[in-house]
Amino acid sequence: MWRIAVIPGDGIGPEVTTEALRTLREVAPDVEPDLLDHINADRFLASGTALSDQDFARVQRCEGALFGAVGDPRVTDPGYARDVLLRLRFDLDLYVNHRPTRLLHDRLSPLRDPARRALDCMVVRENTEGLYVGVGGAVRPGTVHETAIDTEVSTYRGVSRAMEFAFARAARSVCLVDKANAVPHNGSLWQRCFGEAAARHPEVATRHLYVDAAVMELVRDPTEFDVIVANNAHGDVLSDLTAQLAGGPGIAASANLNPRTGFALCEPLHGSAPGLTGTGSANPVAAVLSAALLLDCAGRTEEAETIRSAVRRTVADLRCTPDLGGTLTTAQAASAIRQALV
Ligand code: NAI
Ligand code: MG
Repeated sequence: MWRIAVIPGDGIGPEVTTEALRTLREVAPDVEPDLLDHINADRFLASGTALSDQDFARVQRCEGALFGAVGDPRVTDPGYARDVLLRLRFDLDLYVNHRPTRLLHDRLSPLRDPARRALDCMVVRENTEGLYVGVGGAVRPGTVHETAIDTEVSTYRGVSRAMEFAFARAARSVCLVDKANAVPHNGSLWQRCFGEAAARHPEVATRHLYVDAAVMELVRDPTEFDVIVANNAHGDVLSDLTAQLAGGPGIAASANLNPRTGFALCEPLHGSAPGLTGTGSANPVAAVLSAALLLDCAGRTEEAETIRSAVRRTVADLRCTPDLGGTLTTAQAASAIRQALV
């Protein structure tokens, strides 16, 4: 029995998570989902809390989690994301955000030169610190004197454990991306931890780029990148760029994970896409690949690869949603993937 919390969330979250769970059941019949489908914007609007302490305890009792997306046009309070996704990331100490991306099919790359399209890289984003810790405040809000402060927090422990994960996972090289020239205190801590991890892994090549140069290099020639390690904010942005280079928001998956406890919360990179909700055109691939990543994180690589190769085959055959050039609906595209499982 493999106990997994399932949190579909809002918008297209439930549509794509249903399909991901169905696909997961096909390759892993021992999966025992604990469905928490009441964690959503309706509940936040009604009660001010979306994820209760009891919900958190239920998630904690599982071995991993499959997450859809949270976000609703009716909710303007940024406390909602903090209440759900950031709470899970921080309180379960899911300190690595592991975002592998591989070009699914040549036609999906926005790059002109075919020789430079073969992206297969991984963004390792520090997931519990940085600019997203919520340390700061506002003075005289709503006036012309409004002063806003968000503090970037990096700790030696936090950076070095993310760095260790990046080096341990690298096949060829690790590229540190930062803005140490303009943000020197955080920058020097990151560079020190990078140097220490590099010394522990002499077989891994190293590279350093400032984040502004890194985005240009990623578009010019993404084939040069293997593992990219970055802080919470830079990693968030860089992995959306790599997602677009691999086929867009409909295909990219991520794992929020604690490599020590083994707990992984896997989710698509995309949000709740309110404009697509109910149209049947949301691409289920990102959610399905999140299920594959959950298997990977549980050490079940073979079953994960079964899902990934089924996805690649359907995308190659144009049995996919309109964002990937097909004409299928969410449910049809997901059922094509399940038919392609071998
Ligand atoms: P989004 O990822 O929902 O949408 C961005 C663009 O990608 C839109 O054009 C959308 O149509 C397209 N897209 C997204 N998923 C797709 C899919 N499966 N298939 C095809 N196209 C897809 O990001 P946006 O619009 O910035 O945010 C919408 C809501 O989602 C907001 O409330 C935001 O806060 C929330 N959000 C939640 C995240 C999470 O739960 N991890 C992550 C990002 C945003
Ligand atoms: Mg993002």
